[in-house]
This record gives sequence, structure tokens and C-alpha cells, in this order.
Amino acid sequence: MSPFSAIIAGTGSHVPERRLTNDDLSKMVDTSDEWITQRTGIKERRIAAVDESSATLGTAAARKAIEAAGIDASDIELIIVATITPEMVFPSTGCFIGAALGIPGVPAFDMSAACSGFIYAMVTGANFIRAGQCKNVLVIGSETLSRIVNYRDRNTCILFGDGSGAVVMQRSTDPKRGLIYSSLHADGNAVDVMKLMPGSRYPITQDLVANDQQYMQIKGREVYKFAVNSFERLIDEAVTKCELTKEQVKFVIPHQVNMRIIESAMERLEMPMSKAFVNIHKYGNTSAASIPLALDEAWRSGEIKSGDVLIFVAFGGGLTWANAVVRV
Ligand SMILES: CC(C)(COP(=O)(O)OP(=O)(O)OC[C@H]1O[C@@H](n2cnc3c(N)ncnc32)[C@H](O)[C@@H]1OP(=O)(O)O)[C@@H](O)C(=O)NCCC(=O)NCCS
Repeated sequence: MSPFSAIIAGTGSHVPERRLTNDDLSKMVDTSDEWITQRTGIKERRIAAVDESSATLGTAAARKAIEAAGIDASDIELIIVATITPEMVFPSTGCFIGAALGIPGVPAFDMSAACSGFIYAMVTGANFIRAGQCKNVLVIGSETLSRIVNYRDRNTCILFGDGSGAVVMQRSTDPKRGLIYSSLHADGNAVDVMKLMPGSRYPITQDLVANDQQYMQIKGREVYKFAVNSFERLIDEAVTKCELTKEQVKFVIPHQVNMRIIESAMERLEMPMSKAFVNIHKYGNTSAASIPLALDEAWRSGEIKSGDVLIFVAFGGGLTWANAVVRV
């Protein structure tokens, strides 16, 4: 047993200025505000400007989280960035963010677990703290999904947006606080359900681009069914393992994938929707950024108090799925 726990000491988020509304999309593909709102709950999403990227958005979110934690950037001992839209294949987005924050020498790396990425990164950061290796770890989820979305494909382009969220995980000696439970999962037998092909298996060629395979591909229907079941299971497991009642949970902060998926899981669990923190209508699905983006909004709303229990749940490409329970 570690003498240390890993608490959330501060949160931050940042989104691009530009809004892409459902009406804007209906001028680009055969869709409508009514269809998108009913099927997903999304009203608009943010789109990065040409001079913005996963590192610039992540740096802005990180600065706010560092300020909220009341520390200096020089106190950060590790940077972990969850993203499927890294700044480049290499160097890692974390290296760019470390340089922008003016903390050269601090270890930095990216984690690729698609929409479960932020939970994977948070648990990894917490483990560095619990191992006694770090006091302050910067965990960021940052995405510019607009760079991998095909805006001619109505099945996918309505779903995704850009944004970033960050937390400072900090060493504490209070065993009741911080990350109290987590579970991480992956099943690579389902790689084709959601994917972005360019890489060593499929280097970028003219053929690949001619077939629009430089863009993200998803099988929405298959994801939908898997998602409802996994959200329900992950929340239920978190409550049971932590010996909580559902009433003791302040907020479930789910990956913001689809309002109907979230509603249906909450309904099956007989938990009121007021216990799910949702901001999908404003930002759409921002993959690894979606949980920290929602967490920061919840945190800054003043509704979260010391001692409150938060449950994070996510699933995504891989397939991957994960949960985490934090006592504030
Ligand atoms: C994508 C999603 C919103 C589609 O909703 P759905 O209720 O499953 O809708 P379906 O895929 O069954 O499509 C129903 C019809 O609407 C059409 N349709 C699809 N996108 C549309 C759009 N943007 N506008 C209007 N019609 C659309 C389909 O072509 C289909 O038409 P058809 O019946 O004539 O074939 C939903 O499945 C979903 O959210 N899936 C998970 C998303 C995901 O994978 N996210 C990433 C993982 S983290």
C-alpha cells in the first residue's frame, strides 16, 4: 500500500473560438439540426483555427489547471497527454507542451487509448504519484478532431469537435481523497469498429487518400450498442467496488459521446440525469478531451465540494473502456 494518494488539485480547459453549428453542417452535407439534435444531443462543436493544434489547445488548458492548483509550471514533474490527434507522430504532443510551458527536462509522453485516453492517462499519472516518483503530474486530454474528420461524410462529421482539458494530479497523504478506484480495459479484436488508418500498416499513399482513408472511420451502430452496455457496467462496477450507494455519487462524468447513450445508461441504472454531467450540446464528442472538458466545467460551476465522489466512464477505439472514481 502506498502512503500517498493522488488528488485532483486543479482543472482547466480551453476550446477554439469558432463554432460549427448543426445549421452550418446542414449546408455542407445532407443533414438537419433536428436529426442531429434528436439522435445525438449535439447543437454545436468548436473548430480549431489554422494556427491552433492539439499542443496549443493543451497548453492553454494546462496553464489554467496549473493556476487553479496554485502551483508554478516549474512544480510539474511529469506531463502525460491523451490524444488521437497528436501534434505530429513524433515528437510527442507532451514535448511541445512542455516547451511551451517553459519546463524543459520534465518527462513528457502521449497516450493513445482513443476516447478512454484521459482515464488511462489519469490513472498512469496517479500511479507515478503513488509510487513516490512525482508530487505534481500534469494530465491533459487534447484533440483537434476536425483535422481527421471527413466533412463530406454525414455519418461522422456531425459528431466531433476540438478542445482540451487538463488536471494537475497532486500527492496527498489523506488516504480517503483522490483516485480511489479505477479499471482499464482493451480488446484489439475490434480494431475495425473505430479507426484512423495512416501509420506503419497503412503508410499514406495516393490510393489511401483517393479513398478518403486519411479520415477517421466509425461503425456508429455497433459503437452505440457497445457503449450503452459498457457505460452501465462501468458505473455499476465503480459503485459496487467502492461500496457506495448511487445517492453518494455527486456526478458521473461520462465521455461525451451521445446524449441518448448517456441517458439510456442512467435510466437502466435508475440514476437521475441530474447526476450525469453533460456538455455535449456545446462541444460534441472531443474524444480524449471530453471528460476533462466536462470536469473543468463541473469543477468551476462550484457544485463540486470537498468529499464529493465523481465517477468517470469512457469507451472508445481499440476497443478500449475504463472507469475511475475520485473523491474530491
Ligand atoms: C452515429 C449515430 C448518431 C447514428 O444514430 P443512429 O440512430 O444509430 O442512426 P443510424 O446509423 O441507424 O442511421 C439512421 C439513418 O439516418 C441516416 N443518417 C446518418 N447520419 C445522418 C445525418 N447526419 N443526418 C441525417 N441522416 C443521417 C442513415 O444513413 C440512416 O439512413 P437509412 O435508414 O436510410 O440507412 C449513433 O449511432 C451514435 O452516436 N453512435 C456512436 C458514435 C460513435 O461511434 N462515436 C465515437 C465513439 S467514442
